Amino acid sequence: MVVAYRARRMSRVPSPSGEQPIRRFVPVSLASFDERVLEMSLYIRYEGGPSLPTLYRDAGLPFTEDDRVRLVEQGVKFLYIEAHHHAAFRRQMNERLTRTFRDESLAAAERARIIRDSCAKMIEDVMVLPGESAPVVAVAEIGRTFVSWAHENEHAFGYLLDMSRHDFYTTTHMVNVGVGCGLLARELFPGDDDLFAVAVQGGLLHDLGKRGIPVEILNKEGRLTDIEWAQVRRHPQAGYDELSKNASIPQAVLAMVRDHHERPDGKGYPHGLSGSGVTPIARLCAVVDTFDAITAARPYRGATHPLETLRMLRDGQGAHFDADILNVWSSLVERLVKHDPSRADPGSNPAPPAPLALRSWRPPCDAPADDRGGTLWGHDKRQFARHLVQMTAKGEFIHQGKTYDVGIGERFNVLVVDFGRGGCQIVTPTPLARDDLMTVVFTPPGQPEIRRTARVVRVRKGRDGGWSAGLCFVADHTAKVA
Ligand SMILES: [Fe+2]
Ligand SMILES: [Fe+2]
Repeated sequence: MVVAYRARRMSRVPSPSGEQPIRRFVPVSLASFDERVLEMSLYIRYEGGPSLPTLYRDAGLPFTEDDRVRLVEQGVKFLYIEAHHHAAFRRQMNERLTRTFRDESLAAAERARIIRDSCAKMIEDVMVLPGESAPVVAVAEIGRTFVSWAHENEHAFGYLLDMSRHDFYTTTHMVNVGVGCGLLARELFPGDDDLFAVAVQGGLLHDLGKRGIPVEILNKEGRLTDIEWAQVRRHPQAGYDELSKNASIPQAVLAMVRDHHERPDGKGYPHGLSGSGVTPIARLCAVVDTFDAITAARPYRGATHPLETLRMLRDGQGAHFDADILNVWSSLVERLVKHDPSRADPGSNPAPPAPLALRSWRPPCDAPADDRGGTLWGHDKRQFARHLVQMTAKGEFIHQGKTYDVGIGERFNVLVVDFGRGGCQIVTPTPLARDDLMTVVFTPPGQPEIRRTARVVRVRKGRDGGWSAGLCFVADHTAKVA
């Protein structure tokens, strides 16, 4: 049986003769893999098998979404590549993201979403592989890639800042803070590309110390208990302590990680620094961090409009935030919102209906609201509760990656088996593929029709020839029509 393996150190494989160079392996999160022909061999660890990784699939063979799903179902979180391939692996990821960044056939907002998702996976690698330097290097490299993208297409780069998020995963927050810190550093110190890259890196890593804090505490509505608060207050120093073991991390990044909750009036944490004791780069991070925390929706409230968030931040300027830095950030955000008001308006990015509206007319399987993380995809880390249902609905493709019998605009039957604020799971006889876009039309008895634009994020073929798919609701205005 395959087991999940969390490597804390690189594995070393002595050769049979003992004279060959030692082969070293680096774990790579399954989340990092998309469908591709492998350019390097993948290795795996089996329970009861050799204590070191063995060959899973040779270079040149395909790795598909089905493979990934199968491994996830077996509890595998990591595959391994040889350490000397990791630089090439990172380069491929950066090249793939750069192709996405330049893909004019996709709307800028859609390109930004794909890039943000990939960056969130990189950060997840850092968070689940403590002590590994390779994922940290990948984050530093994406910082430098951001700099080149900003030079290449400032407008498209600006779209990487998400100002109307309906989730607050720690990793997506860290991505957004990384982008925001880069944008703000560029505004404050134009032409200083090194500082730009460092600001991105620091933002991407700033909440690393939150690893291990339960999501129920991070997303808790209302006052934390003393014990919970003590746990939260430790995260800046915890992140600093971990990253400072890595000699490649710049001091400015460490300052951002440790001091992003310090305040000019000395009432911040963890050390109560004040005035010039807080470096400008950490003050910069504090502004962007708080801005993102307020704009993003939480399970207990919706997203806040960025201009409203700026008004809230200005109430704390001087005491909570550096007034000059906040002014520059305000001008930057106002400019972005003026250029494209829709991307900043939570009302234009409606959250799916609350599960309560559905509960009133039926969960026919008599199952209670499911807060455990879903049914078909038990390994998901879902933020919102899913509710088990059995309701028929209609699907309608907006964009297809492959050609099917059912084309764009034609309706097909789906059975919705669970439903939440963020998405749903369906079963359908109609083939579909990851990244397809569709409209799902629900018609609850006695209630108005509900239409949601959704992206296929997982697909699995059932034994009966049907398809199970996980859908993630997306904003209509980000949908790409082929
Ligand atoms: Fe933080
Ligand atoms: Fe944060």
